[in-house]
Amino acid sequence: MQNYHEFLAEILIDATTLQKRIAELGAEISADYQGKDLHLICILRGGVMFLTDLMRHLTVPHTIDFMAISSYGAGARRSSGEIRLTMDLRDPIQDRNVLLVEDIIDSGYTLTSVIELLTVRKPASLHVCTLLDKAERREVDVPIRYCGFVIPDKFVFGYGLDLDEYYRNLPFIGTVNLEKFQPPD
Ligand code: IMP
Ligand code: MG
Repeated sequence: MQNYHEFLAEILIDATTLQKRIAELGAEISADYQGKDLHLICILRGGVMFLTDLMRHLTVPHTIDFMAISSYGAGARRSSGEIRLTMDLRDPIQDRNVLLVEDIIDSGYTLTSVIELLTVRKPASLHVCTLLDKAERREVDVPIRYCGFVIPDKFVFGYGLDLDEYYRNLPFIGTVNLEKFQPPD
């Protein structure tokens, strides 16, 4: 594996800035869901780091569940607009206050499909919390209730986001120089 220093173009959001913003989001969500039963749904795998850090800042009782979808295979850098549910939620969401926790919204296709899929199950409410929003790339409108950072149209990695499945562990969000990145075999 390549050391990320070889293809890191820049650190877009450093660890301190990330954590500070996540604490703010946690406080905001806690205030909004006061007295409500909050159910967080994380879309695997990119949102995991964000979910676990966000949870530490929630002061309201909440439960979590996971679902996995695939929007495009390793190597592709664009959403296909088609998603496949590869792992469903464990628990029903009917009459629950659901908050979808996502790593990044790009074209918006992935989340639009997920929202459609979950709406059918009749949650009491369904909102979106995304760490990153590549707003200028949006092709379909997605209602975002909580957003960490609006970022430019650059491919990013770290803090849950992968480059061909690796580098999710990095504590910051970096941009990649794709000419210098060698995909793993
Ligand atoms: P959308 O369907 O185009 O909105 O794509 C959303 C999904 O694409 C995210 O959940 C990510 O998994 C992936 N994605 C989009 N942009 C990036 C990026 O810059 N780095 C890593 N993954 C990304
Ligand atoms: Mg994702």
